[in-house]
Amino acid sequence: MAKKKSILDFAEMKQRGEKVTWITAYDYPTASLVEQAGIDMILVGDSVGMVVYGYPGTLPVTMDQIMYHTEAVRRGAPNTFIIGDMPFLSYQTSVSEAIQNAGRFYKEANVDAVKLEGGKRMTPQIRGIVESGMVVVGHIGLTPQSSAQLGGFKAQGATAEAAIILLEDAKAIEEAGASLLLVEGVPPETGKIITEALSIPVYGIGAGPHCDGQILIVSDMLGIFEVFTPKFVKKYASLATVIREAFQEYGREVREGKFPAEEHCYKMKAGEAERLADLLKKIS
Ligand code: KIV
Repeated sequence: MAKKKSILDFAEMKQRGEKVTWITAYDYPTASLVEQAGIDMILVGDSVGMVVYGYPGTLPVTMDQIMYHTEAVRRGAPNTFIIGDMPFLSYQTSVSEAIQNAGRFYKEANVDAVKLEGGKRMTPQIRGIVESGMVVVGHIGLTPQSSAQLGGFKAQGATAEAAIILLEDAKAIEEAGASLLLVEGVPPETGKIITEALSIPVYGIGAGPHCDGQILIVSDMLGIFEVFTPKFVKKYASLATVIREAFQEYGREVREGKFPAEEHCYKMKAGEAERLADLLKKIS
């Protein structure tokens, strides 16, 4: 079994130009498969709100909900670097609340880091969590928790000026003590200048190929979530089709009396079926 990686390994991988892989996971069996596949990190993302709970966005996700999922993921992937994603209003309200809620991820789910969205304006929270001994992953660009301010789920950093603002946010996050940065939904040029300017590793989702690593949402890359597919997603499987066909076949077989077949049935001990018939005759 591969050794669990730490932020020191990720820093060295950036120096060596080795790409880091992450996938989101929300439950025990998926986390276990991600670990078996040798993926470096798991994010228990607040995307759980959309792809598991069916909310239209990530805002309704609560601390209690994400904690249940993070605990299950940790049980499934004991040797993988796990990041807990801080849900909306679990850190924006105050530094003290940010520290308390980041601490819950550590105390209850044994995470290796917490992630929070936002640039310069979140640096007091980042500093507070880091000074309390925890590891922070920043998240800038298309930040779903502030999608109302961004005018929807829209690509960011697409003009030279907007790219410079994101670069300044990225530098402020590094300066505040974050160990890793996730950049979402920006053109490759913007992803590149941020990755090159920072000494901490910079990972991307829809941020082009130049980042130090990539993450995809598990339900998107497996082709399970069919509500919408962002441009940056590559589907590595079409599990929705496979799963739907399995459900249809099961329904058909039950209706046609083909399932359960003999091999799916428990057997009575020898002679017991005959004794049962006799007993039934006696009591009827
Ligand atoms: O919640 C999530 O899954 C995320 C993605 C952008 C990776 O933050």
